[in-house]
Amino acid sequence: MTLKLNQITREHLNQELKLTLLLTSIEIKSARNGKSYADFQVQDQTQKTTLRFWDYQPHNSEPELPMIVDCAILVGEYREQLQLTLKKWESTTQTEITVDQLVRSSRWNPEKMQGWLRDYYEYIEAEHIRELIQRMVFEEPFYEKYCTYPAAKTVHHNFMYGILQHTLEVLKYVKMVAGTKKLTQRQVDRLLAMTFLHDWAKIIEYEPVPSESMTVEGRMLGHIFIGAHHTRNMMDTIPNFDDTDALIILNGILGHHGAYEWGSPVLPKTVEAQILHQADKLSGDIESILSFTEDQAARDDQFTDKLWNMGTDYFKGGIT
Ligand SMILES: [Fe+2]
Ligand SMILES: [Fe+2]
Repeated sequence: MTLKLNQITREHLNQELKLTLLLTSIEIKSARNGKSYADFQVQDQTQKTTLRFWDYQPHNSEPELPMIVDCAILVGEYREQLQLTLKKWESTTQTEITVDQLVRSSRWNPEKMQGWLRDYYEYIEAEHIRELIQRMVFEEPFYEKYCTYPAAKTVHHNFMYGILQHTLEVLKYVKMVAGTKKLTQRQVDRLLAMTFLHDWAKIIEYEPVPSESMTVEGRMLGHIFIGAHHTRNMMDTIPNFDDTDALIILNGILGHHGAYEWGSPVLPKTVEAQILHQADKLSGDIESILSFTEDQAARDDQFTDKLWNMGTDYFKGGIT
């Protein structure tokens, strides 16, 4: 069996390993001595990582990315952390390997996830709200992207089917809170709708997997504005869309990051919007801890590195 990125451990120190990886970007940088080197972003289905390539000579023709490459990687150590240096790379000659096999994907089954998405849709009763979700989520040109795109570039759900998995997690959490606190049916309708739509615009903000890039529109406008804007426009195509429902759903989308400093232009102004914000944060934070801990599982240390979005390192000793 060929080695995967997450299986590289201290046992491999000072060895040169051969791996087949998906190369998604090359960033050329210059060292203090003026020599240029490059950071190669690579992944297989287990992990994404950066490989440093010291003798990078920019070619006249840039390689077309993403590209499947055979790599020779030297396992070294820097400040007690494993450091992977790329020694040699070339476009693979193994014709049986496809990009899909090297893309990091959700572990959840995509067909099942689509079924669950339908199940949550069926909880919505108000006709105009059902119509909004039908048009924005379940119809093309949106549905296929909604079901395959990642929900982030880094940190959480940054893999294929990420929006779908993340949205399902948040739908599950908000439904549980709505039931526990006995919200009215109309509140539940609005809460589910804003949850379906809160990260919808990531299908516009990001390029499709395996690209790691944001689109120009995404960089200029961001998913919060784009999502609210498309939703407002779609509401206008539905006859007699209730004004109060419109305001509450839009506030939920705009406020879902929960604070000005986290990118929301307004704060959550309803209980539905606040439930969405908390559930969204729960899904993102927990996923980031789990995937970060897993990425670092092969290291000897009892603790992970510091996970920047959580402000702390995590104990690995209790994981069996
Ligand atoms: Fe978001
Ligand atoms: Fe989200």
